[in-house]
Amino acid sequence: MTRHALLFASALALSAPAALPAQMREAPAIAPVLATADAVDPHSFARPREARVTHVALDLDVNFAQRSVAGSATLDIARRPGAGALVLDSKGYQVTKVNDAETGRPLAFAFGKADPELGRPLTIQLGPRTRKVRVAYVARNAEALQWLAPSQTAGKRQPFLFSQGQAILNRGWIPTQDSPGIRQTWSATIRVPYPLTAVMSAPGGGVQGGQNVANSASGTRTFTFAMDKPVAPYLIAIAVGDLKFQPLGPRTGVWAEPATLPAAARELEDTEKMVATAERLFGPYRWGRYDMIVLPPSFPFGGMENPTLTFLTPTFIAGDKSLVSLVAHELAHSWSGNLATNATWADFWLNEGTTTYAERRIVEEIYGPKVARQQVALGIDALGEAITDNGGTKGADTRLHIDLRGRNPDVGLTDIAYEKGAAFLRMIEANVGRPRFDAFLRGWFDRHAFQPVTSAMFLADVRRELVRGNPALERKLQLDAWVYGPGVPANSIPADPQAFAEVDRAVSAYEAGGAPPARWSGWTTDERLRFLNKLPRTLARARLDGLERAYRLNETGNNEVLYAWLSLAVANKYDPAVPALERFLTSQGRRKFVRPLIKTLADDPRWGRPIAVRVYREARPLYHPLVTGELDKMGLR
Ligand code: BES
Ligand code: ZN
Repeated sequence: MTRHALLFASALALSAPAALPAQMREAPAIAPVLATADAVDPHSFARPREARVTHVALDLDVNFAQRSVAGSATLDIARRPGAGALVLDSKGYQVTKVNDAETGRPLAFAFGKADPELGRPLTIQLGPRTRKVRVAYVARNAEALQWLAPSQTAGKRQPFLFSQGQAILNRGWIPTQDSPGIRQTWSATIRVPYPLTAVMSAPGGGVQGGQNVANSASGTRTFTFAMDKPVAPYLIAIAVGDLKFQPLGPRTGVWAEPATLPAAARELEDTEKMVATAERLFGPYRWGRYDMIVLPPSFPFGGMENPTLTFLTPTFIAGDKSLVSLVAHELAHSWSGNLATNATWADFWLNEGTTTYAERRIVEEIYGPKVARQQVALGIDALGEAITDNGGTKGADTRLHIDLRGRNPDVGLTDIAYEKGAAFLRMIEANVGRPRFDAFLRGWFDRHAFQPVTSAMFLADVRRELVRGNPALERKLQLDAWVYGPGVPANSIPADPQAFAEVDRAVSAYEAGGAPPARWSGWTTDERLRFLNKLPRTLARARLDGLERAYRLNETGNNEVLYAWLSLAVANKYDPAVPALERFLTSQGRRKFVRPLIKTLADDPRWGRPIAVRVYREARPLYHPLVTGELDKMGLR
């Protein structure tokens, strides 16, 4: 500590007790940071029980030429009496100065030692009465932000910017405490070049879809946003581009580039109904509007549940709504994840497993029990694969609550969290009955709305609300084995063997040497996926020719089906699929599609690697930094 800081610290000890209560009264009603050991976040440098951020006010210029956002973040803080410093997370942004935002007095600050994944702590010495801190900064080439040239957009005329904060990327462009257990309200003033539009994961001034804009003579447009509900900082998100809005219903709508908007709106026509359905299942939708933005194909995920504004890949647009369970999923996060939020990434399953369960409940209501049962069955298959990929039924990372200390939280982004989590909830539902489970789940969201949650809290609630001291039920549920043990306990609910009965018969007939089943043309997307994924991984060239001739798979407009086909083709070094493969890999950047295909190619020195090198050279500018960060390690450049 500097001499200067020591002086501040001793002054603080005298005056802080008097200053604190008044400040706490003014602070928004924000849930306390949990104090238990399992809620301490190993991926944040913040020391929230000393001093924590309660509100972030951003004031930023978006500069496409510099690939920078620059301006200030003004932070409201709540502090323990005697707390001398505020510790923020940071990764790459430069700080020009830090001031007490009320008095204007400069505050001393210093960066700590850098960790390659976590970035470095930014420690700000607080004055005795400091309640608001202004950090002036510039963030260039932040990993969370992808800057697209006009040629990488649908319209080809304007650049595009979007952010992806989850899990620990927002610390690259927002100076705050970047932990999901530290909730903050926030607001933003964003200046972008004319004629671009900025949207964020918060309401704007109130016009269509919630944007508030002022055009200036200098050629900038200023947008303002305010999120008055405390959210985890990974949920602050921005997109800037040539964006138009189309309403879908009273509370729902979609943003997209003009060229994408009509198809996007058609695909999303069930959204308003989904919100109403979700409310019936899980309780009131507490975020006001539910809008979405369909991003350029670089978006590295299927979807991201940014509050009031779900971010979506355009690759879900199939023309027949067959991939819109994605929207049910992101919408469900408005309860699981955005209301009740994993306190640390070790409990990521509470976000994704609960959401995957909830997604299928919404799908069941809107598209019927048969579709939902099929999606459950596909999920159970995916869980089996995830267990194999994570060390088998004894693998430490097949536990729901996982140990991520010393590792990037992204290693927890597997179907263990999604599908074992969902299977856990289905198991409880089956044992206590749907009505009781529904009441429980709704109560879980209500009791923990706008608060961080842990596995231990979930189990405590299940025991208090459902088990209620019944020893037989306690034994039957095997709660601790599910959450803290590896693999899948024996009481899991198997997939309905009838879910894909016809498809599975067709697979057997095909495996016995039969022709490609003609029933394909009448199958849904899920049925086609089941068929392709159940085929033997090794197929003779003539068999692949037969499938391609019968179904024209290289030309399918359904990206999930295309991915399933290309995975099979690549596993068999099937040349006639290579042009389609190259098109696919150079036209979208969804990590789930890109990473496994490129990895399989790269691992095959003779046939695959030259294709991977060629594709990656062309596609790299399209891929998001979080994808290129991984692919660069494969040495394809
Ligand atoms: N929140 C996730 C995406 C995510 C998780 C991003 C962890 C970064 C770190 C989102 O809700 C999600 O699960 N998306 C899925 C789609 C879903 C239908 C399974 C995706 O992107 O594939
Ligand atoms: Zn999700």
